[in-house]
Amino acid sequence: MQRETALVTGAGRGLGRATAWRLHQDGYAIAVNYSQSSDAADSLVREITADGGVARAYHADISNPQDVASLFERVCAEMGGVDVLVNNAGVSPARAPIRDYDVNDFDRMLAVNVRGTFLALQQAARRMRSGGRIVSISSSTVKLDAPGAGPYAATKGAVERLSAILVKELAGSGIRVNVVAPGLALTDLVIESNTEEQIEEVKQMIPMGRLAEPQEVADAVAYLVSDRASFVNGAVLSVNGGLV
Ligand SMILES: NC(=O)c1ccc[n+]([C@@H]2O[C@H](COP(=O)([O-])OP(=O)(O)OC[C@H]3O[C@@H](n4cnc5c(N)ncnc54)[C@H](OP(=O)(O)O)[C@@H]3O)[C@@H](O)[C@H]2O)c1
Repeated sequence: MQRETALVTGAGRGLGRATAWRLHQDGYAIAVNYSQSSDAADSLVREITADGGVARAYHADISNPQDVASLFERVCAEMGGVDVLVNNAGVSPARAPIRDYDVNDFDRMLAVNVRGTFLALQQAARRMRSGGRIVSISSSTVKLDAPGAGPYAATKGAVERLSAILVKELAGSGIRVNVVAPGLALTDLVIESNTEEQIEEVKQMIPMGRLAEPQEVADAVAYLVSDRASFVNGAVLSVNGGLV
């Protein structure tokens, strides 16, 4: 049987890597997008191939319109289409109060988290066939109102609104659009944007008393793109141990 293709943005590291591996285990051919981490993307492609799967690495800066258009064009030409899109690529500079926030950090985050998600959603809306599934990665920060996380939360709020409106715009297309909102998982992004004390503080607020494993976020994405979620459209699935 022909494998479906899943394009995972920012798949070289962190939650994207875990998601790409999980979707490979579910039988998808994986388009591994990366921006800086070419070695990590190549090693993931090798691991998937060695495990009997199909994967290709694709460089694209997700905030660049030409890169994103060419990414979709190449994946469609070389892997037969994009059946599943996971908008995972994201950045989060160190937390800081709004009064002290560096506007360059703000712009970079807006470019990757919002513009990048928008550009990928736009390509998917233009190119995806009936039966396609899209999952974008938001964050429980949207609902947490944590001091210092304002701009990041705002970008993820934008991701949720873009997805919600795309659901309505794609009515009748046969494409499902959903969001996963993870709590804290210990990835580079979290380590770089939070102090140890801030991570501990959030951990104390989680009823399950621990952080998320990347695999647990990947499992939620795998569920939403599967037939088990065939009537789930426009959902925001929290994976945060009860944090919010
Ligand atoms: N970890 C958490 O607790 C948590 C919680 C809620 C939401 N999230 C969200 O989950 C997603 C993944 O985060 P993570 O924690 O796995 O972070 P991470 O380990 O720092 O990974 C970030 C990924 O985004 C990619 N990326 C960054 N800028 C890019 C660009 N311009 N173009 C393409 N790819 C780009 C990176 O690729 P390169 O290295 O190739 O640049 C990398 O693969 C993000 O959207 C994040 O906001 C994470």
